[in-house]
Amino acid sequence: MLNTAIFASGNGSNFEAIVKAFEKGELNARPIVCVCDKPGAYVIERAKNLKIPVIVANPKDFPSKKEYEEYIAGQLRGLEIGLICLAGYMRLVGPVLLGEYDGRIINIHPSMLPDFKGAHAIRDAFESGEKNYGVTVHYVDETLDGGKILIQRRVEYDGDNLDDLETAVHAVEHKLYPEAINIAVSAIES
Ligand code: GRF
Repeated sequence: MLNTAIFASGNGSNFEAIVKAFEKGELNARPIVCVCDKPGAYVIERAKNLKIPVIVANPKDFPSKKEYEEYIAGQLRGLEIGLICLAGYMRLVGPVLLGEYDGRIINIHPSMLPDFKGAHAIRDAFESGEKNYGVTVHYVDETLDGGKILIQRRVEYDGDNLDDLETAVHAVEHKLYPEAINIAVSAIES
């Protein structure tokens, strides 16, 4: 079974959903490590509880993005990582990791891309008034939320409360990301 590393910067609810899907036998990839760029992020706590090792690397501790990514790539080498899943990883992936994991990095984004790219997608979609809500999992390239789309799902929400909308979006994310990982694994293995 292909090994996956999950990159996260914050809360880590998608990280946890992926690990739980694996524990239930619903994932065709083994989550073996969490990579976190934010010391103190709650995802680190979740990883400890779920018994998944964490690599914490703060980009501020490195002279450049290149050296930061070389450190991570070095830590991952030897773990035979076949797929990297970004799950709330709040930075653009650079040439070092893109080069080493070409076509093997995916990301989850809380909108119907290409609509509402960026860090505040749910709020932006809410404030647009269009009620165009959804979740996208896409391959990662050097652009922000711009790589080829793997799968999308609409989120039906007709209310006017941002917190409720966020809850609805995250519920869809937690189901969609494991499905997307299985699709990505099939594509890699075929
Ligand atoms: C999710 O909404 C994801 O789509 C976006 O960042 C958020 C991360 O949430 N990229 P969590 O840390 O997984 O709870």
